[in-house]
Amino acid sequence: WTATRDKSCKLPMPKGSMGFPIIGETCHWLFQGAGFHASRRQKYGNVFKTHLLGRPLIRVTGAENVRKVLMGEHTLVSVEWPQSTSTLLGPNSLANSIGDIHRKRRKIFAKVFSHEALESYLPKIQQVIQETLRVWSSDPEPINVYRESQRMSFHMAIRVLIGFRISDEEMRFLFCTFLEFMDNVFSLPIDLPFSGYRKGIRARDALQKAIEKAIREKPLCTQGKDYTDALDVLLESAAENSSELSMQELKESTIELIFAAFATTASASTSLVMQLLRHPAVLEKLREELRARGLLHDGCLCQGELRLDTICTLKYLDCVIKEVLRLYAPVSGGYRVAMQTFELDVSGAGVMPASSSNAYAYRRSRAEGVQIPKGWSVMYSIRDTHDTSAVFKDVEAFDPDRFSPERSEDREGRFHYLPFGGGVRSCLGKQLAMLFLKLLAVELAGGSRFELATRTFARMVSVPVVHPTDGLRVKFFGLD
Ligand code: HEM
Repeated sequence: WTATRDKSCKLPMPKGSMGFPIIGETCHWLFQGAGFHASRRQKYGNVFKTHLLGRPLIRVTGAENVRKVLMGEHTLVSVEWPQSTSTLLGPNSLANSIGDIHRKRRKIFAKVFSHEALESYLPKIQQVIQETLRVWSSDPEPINVYRESQRMSFHMAIRVLIGFRISDEEMRFLFCTFLEFMDNVFSLPIDLPFSGYRKGIRARDALQKAIEKAIREKPLCTQGKDYTDALDVLLESAAENSSELSMQELKESTIELIFAAFATTASASTSLVMQLLRHPAVLEKLREELRARGLLHDGCLCQGELRLDTICTLKYLDCVIKEVLRLYAPVSGGYRVAMQTFELDVSGAGVMPASSSNAYAYRRSRAEGVQIPKGWSVMYSIRDTHDTSAVFKDVEAFDPDRFSPERSEDREGRFHYLPFGGGVRSCLGKQLAMLFLKLLAVELAGGSRFELATRTFARMVSVPVVHPTDGLRVKFFGLD
């Protein structure tokens, strides 16, 4: 491996297995899904080493460790995506920028997700969701919710973020090309004909070409605050910050935004449908909240009432979405590299409950600090941190009320609950994602009837994002 132990540091390396030469444990990771990290965490504790996607990696779980990593951005760690992701997203992406350049780019992007901008996207998001649910309801066959949610997220990204007005045929072409891009964005960086990496590069080039054509043909609205889409806001914000975005930067930003929104919201949408199916009492309580606010009459939604401010005041709706994202965090973690050797605690947050399946590894190793040597890749874990956090009572239960003002279990510490990451690289699209999921939940509670089309719920896998192995088969009926 290129990175080894720091001999000047007395602490031991984290335990773990490096798998086979070159491929390391990549195949285990791809096939075992969520079980991969859980099994190694149980064996080696909250900080363990492995070898994934062509590089040695230290995986970090537990609120206190994660806090140290996230707050150590630019001092202890810096962002470092796997090589395939980094190349496919391009040098101008936020994912690949650091320090002042990152700060400047984030400032430009921030306006894209401001309250004002979100208010202007709301009707379009609603339209995409309503159209999607109409199509699902009119299909006589059960829907593969995960696959169709990917289509819905893609439409949302294309229409709301980018504002493209393209034909159905162009939309289909872009969607298929984007799926090819996504399938290979986390691949071994081996550039050979027919390798996943090469397929990803070809898909990226085709997307960039189509996006450039659409941008050139698009009437841009850069005057005033009557935004039509995020691309307009981005251009206006860049101008306000005395920056001009080149065509290459625009193309890379566009792909990065769709990349960031696509799989995450599709995963969360699927988990939301699944949890509403599993917990009819939660669905009914959501309906009660809508009725109490005058948004639901005789089983029909009163569309005219839905403003961003109204959505923000629906407390139970907020709890439901937060709980879906706690139990099924779409992003499993974030990639960094150690800029200097530092120490972490194998026990993680020091709050491992005695009943936890990891309690043995925790007790055995809690006195041990381990070194994270300079140059090693570090992946902080979101889902495992949620799963092992002692601040959540009955951690495996779906219990939206844990986020109610009376209980607020997440109040205990910022880094126990982090579906959107944290620190200077936290999710820029968090508010947009929450709005999208809330609007979907409102439509599901207000205007749809849906039933599981299989006898049981399928097993969940976590690569590339968390989703059920069968995609979740559901029959939608629409309004009674
Ligand atoms: C970053 C989660 C939706 C845009 C992140 C990160 C997480 C995350 C965990 C931090 C990764 C890290 O630490 O390296 C999610 C989840 C979503 C979601 C769970 C949906 C449920 C979106 C949407 C957009 C978006 C809809 C925009 C359209 C971004 C961007 C970053 C980011 C641009 C990079 C920020 C930076 O590097 O400074 N997201 N995201 N995300 N997200 Fe999201």
